[in-house]
Amino acid sequence: MATAIVTGSGGLIGSESVRVFAEQGFDVIGVENDMRAHFFGPQASTARVSERLVAEVDGFRWEQIDIRDAEAIDRLFARHSRRVELIVHAAAQPSHDWAASDPQTDFTVNAHGTLNLLQAARAHAPDATFIFTSTNKVYGDRPNALPLQEHETRLELPADHPWYEGIGTDMSIDATTHSLFGVSKVAADLLVQEYGRYFGMPTVCFRGGCLTGPQHAGAELHGFLSYLMRCTATGTPYTVFGYGGKQVRDNIHATDVVRAFAAFHSNPRAAAVYNLGGGRAGSVSMLEAIAACERITGRSLNYTISEQARLGDHRWWITDLSAFVGDYPGWRVTVDVNAVLREIYAHNADGWSGGSTGPD
Ligand SMILES: NC(=O)c1ccc[n+]([C@@H]2O[C@H](COP(=O)([O-])OP(=O)(O)OC[C@H]3O[C@@H](n4cnc5c(N)ncnc54)[C@H](O)[C@@H]3O)[C@@H](O)[C@H]2O)c1
Repeated sequence: MATAIVTGSGGLIGSESVRVFAEQGFDVIGVENDMRAHFFGPQASTARVSERLVAEVDGFRWEQIDIRDAEAIDRLFARHSRRVELIVHAAAQPSHDWAASDPQTDFTVNAHGTLNLLQAARAHAPDATFIFTSTNKVYGDRPNALPLQEHETRLELPADHPWYEGIGTDMSIDATTHSLFGVSKVAADLLVQEYGRYFGMPTVCFRGGCLTGPQHAGAELHGFLSYLMRCTATGTPYTVFGYGGKQVRDNIHATDVVRAFAAFHSNPRAAAVYNLGGGRAGSVSMLEAIAACERITGRSLNYTISEQARLGDHRWWITDLSAFVGDYPGWRVTVDVNAVLREIYAHNADGWSGGSTGPD
C-alpha cells in the first residue's frame, strides 16, 4: 500500500489531507507535536483533532515528532522509504505577528523544518510528490501598492485592472515588507522549488490566501474567519486592525485546498508554483465578514477598529486561479465563503457555548 506522510496532521490542512488521502487508499502517517498550543495557547491545541483522526480514520497513526528534529524525520522516512508516494507538508508556525516575538523558532520551524523534510524525501523517497503549503505572504506587502479605490464596504481594484480577477505568481517577491513569517516561508518556498529544479523532484508550492474550515482551531493571531465567528457567537470582543475594516481577503475551504493537492498528485510536475485561494467569488472584506457572521449567528459582534494595521498585512488580496485551473482543468472552488461560515458555526457553536477549548 502506498504511504502518505502528512506533517501538521492535527491542523486545518493536515487533518483534511489525512482524511482525503486515507479515503483514496493511502496508508497515512501524521507528524504532529501540537506546537500550535505553544504558539497560540491551549484554546488552539490540535490534540483533540489528532485523537479523532486516530479513532475515525482506518490505519491512521501519528508520530509526535518536531519537524526541526532532522534525525527523527530522517528515521521516519527511512522506515517507510520507497513506499512513500506523497508528502503533504502543512506543519508550520503560521502567524506573522507571532513570528516577530520569536524569530528563531519561527525560522527554524518554517525554513529549517522544510529543509529537513526535503532532505529526508530526497534521501529515501525522491519520486514522491512533495506538496508544500506556502503563503501569499511571500509577496510581502507589495499588493498594498495596487491602485485601490475605497468602496462602501471594501477596498477594490478598478474593474479594468489586469489583476482585478486576482493576483498571479508574476507578482515580484522582492523589495517589500514580508514580516518575519513571510521571510521564513519565502525561504521554505524557494527551497521546495529548488529541490524540484536542482534534483528533479516533483515538488509544488501552493501559495495560499486564507485557508479555512470548521476544523480550524481559530486563535486571535491565526485563523481569521474561524476566530471571528467564535467571537461573534460567544460575545467575545474583537479588534479589527487597520484600513477601516475594508481590507479584502479571499478564503478557500480546506476541502478545496486538499482537492487541489490530489489533482496535483494525479499529474505532478517538478518545481511547480501556484497561488491558491478562493478567488474573487471567495473574497470578503472584514466589514463584510462581520456582517455575514452576525447574520448567521443572529448576534452583534462587539468590535472596535484600531487605526494600527498589522505590519506587512495586505489591504487587498484576491487569488488568480487561472494558472492552476489551466494545468488541472478538473479542479474548481466548490465551497463559497458564506457556506464556509455557516459550516464553521454549525460545527462549533455547541462546543463554544459549552466552553470547549478547541475544534472537534
Ligand atoms: N490557514 C491559513 O489561512 C493559511 C494561509 C496561507 C498558508 N497557510 C499555510 O498552510 C499550512 C497549514 O496551515 P493551517 O492553517 O493548517 O495551520 P495549523 O496551525 O492549523 O496547522 C499546523 C499544524 O502544524 C503543527 N506544527 C507546528 N509546528 C510543528 C513542528 N515543529 N513539528 C510538528 N508539527 C508542528 C501544529 O501543531 C499544527 O497542528 C501552514 O504551512 C501555513 O503557513 C495557511
